[in-house]
Amino acid sequence: MTLDLPKKLLQDLSEFILSHTGLYFPEKKWRALNKGIKSAAHELGIETNIFANQLLATTPTKKIVDTLTGYLTIGETYFLRDKNLFQILGDQIIRGLIQRPSKKNNIINIWSAGCSSGEEPYSIAILIDQLFPQLNGWNITILGTDINPDSIKKAKKGIYTQWSFRETPKKIIDKYFTQTADNNFEIVPHIKTRVKFSQINLMEKDYVLHPAIAGAVDVILCRNVLMYFNDQNRNIAIKNLTKFLTEDGWLITSPAESGFIKAPELSSVKFPNAIFHRKGMPRKEDRTTSVSGTGIKSSAKKIKPDYPKKSIAPRKTKPLSRRMTDLPPSDKLDYDIYLTAVRDYERGAYAQTVEKLSNLLSDEINNNAFLMKTDSMVLLSKSYANLGKVEKAGYWCEKAIDSEKLNPEIYYLQSTIFQAAGDIKASIRSLKQALYLDPEFIMAHFTLGLLLQQKNKLYESRKSMTNALSLLKVRDPDEILTFSDGMTVGLLIDTISGIIKN
Ligand SMILES: C[S@@+](CC[C@H](N)C(=O)[O-])C[C@H]1O[C@@H](n2cnc3c(N)ncnc32)[C@H](O)[C@@H]1O
Repeated sequence: MTLDLPKKLLQDLSEFILSHTGLYFPEKKWRALNKGIKSAAHELGIETNIFANQLLATTPTKKIVDTLTGYLTIGETYFLRDKNLFQILGDQIIRGLIQRPSKKNNIINIWSAGCSSGEEPYSIAILIDQLFPQLNGWNITILGTDINPDSIKKAKKGIYTQWSFRETPKKIIDKYFTQTADNNFEIVPHIKTRVKFSQINLMEKDYVLHPAIAGAVDVILCRNVLMYFNDQNRNIAIKNLTKFLTEDGWLITSPAESGFIKAPELSSVKFPNAIFHRKGMPRKEDRTTSVSGTGIKSSAKKIKPDYPKKSIAPRKTKPLSRRMTDLPPSDKLDYDIYLTAVRDYERGAYAQTVEKLSNLLSDEINNNAFLMKTDSMVLLSKSYANLGKVEKAGYWCEKAIDSEKLNPEIYYLQSTIFQAAGDIKASIRSLKQALYLDPEFIMAHFTLGLLLQQKNKLYESRKSMTNALSLLKVRDPDEILTFSDGMTVGLLIDTISGIIKN
């Protein structure tokens, strides 16, 4: 796509967007900026150049800025995105909050800042309902906010397509959603009413938070938002978020963003595969060790609970300790076993992974607090595959598919298992299923192209390769592709171009 707007105008517009929204559009992203402005102008029925000049010339109306924001923000999200993080949120953070002496007021406030269409705050409400049914009498407010008014509208509706459930266990979909006539899924009323939504621009000076929560936020999730800002705006946004946190309150970002948090008011606390930030001074027990090379930062055992030890708890906490005993037993043990199994897998001890996970998964007790069940099945399947036990690998992969039917990544795993078993036809079938669920799954297009080539279906193979190529071309050449064993976008473009040429 060529640029419709002159470079000088794009430069001015990128500065305008930066100051209004925090979104950072350096020159290499001007195509996307140009496209967004063009689409917004088209929606408002204004010629692109006139629209662009209107944005800069006068104080633009809210409608103009909102329409443009809708086209420039990336709203990618889904339920329980990063289950490991939700596991920690439930096991450690919310459990810890409930047990804090200061929580005898029975109030918990959680804010999902940059929540897009609401999957994140609803996931929190579901998590709390699953893990802590005894909190029914508590006053728990979950707030979801976003700059994009269309996303907030969609969030308030609470109706989602299957794609929002790509990593959601079937059990959770069945329990918390009802199917609509047009095959979408609507969140059940008792979860819907627990979440409030409003439009908030995190870059706006002195924005006002919903009164139900403004006084004291215990946990803020701001995930996959700061990555679109530049350093300066990130710091402003973090400073503002921190202002709303209670003392000891938590700021949670995605793992890729935790390095951005440098506010002096916050201390970083390591959890398995994640670093969260707590308001207040660092504590001795926060220093947990990293297990080298595994990507798993520490064993959950090393993490101390989020509440004072008994010996320093004030005497008047007696009624509270009664509440503590009311809590269901922590299911941390399963999570610990899972984490150890991951570490075994990472160091190539597949037999040990198999042993641990087989025991874990043979436990038929319905363990609500353990979110990593499907992931355990996937890991078990991969371990069996690495041990050359293809049949067992296939069995556990099937079980994982049964548990998360909409997850394209598990079908991709299944295709590799079929390949290992020499069943190319079945492997192609699984790849097509993965692509049906996620048409933008680059490695699935590429692998399908290779398999079709093997089957001498050259026309179809070329089509798959071309699909992969067009998806690759809009990505950053240095980006490492998932499921590629470390291959970059640039390298795969060269590889595919070579294949097509030949
Ligand atoms: C990729 S989504 C993340 C959704 C969710 N937090 C998650 O991790 O799945 C990023 C969201 O940040 C929102 N966003 C971008 N700039 C913002 C700003 N200045 N204020 C508030 N939200 C913003 C976008 O509209 C978009 O919905």
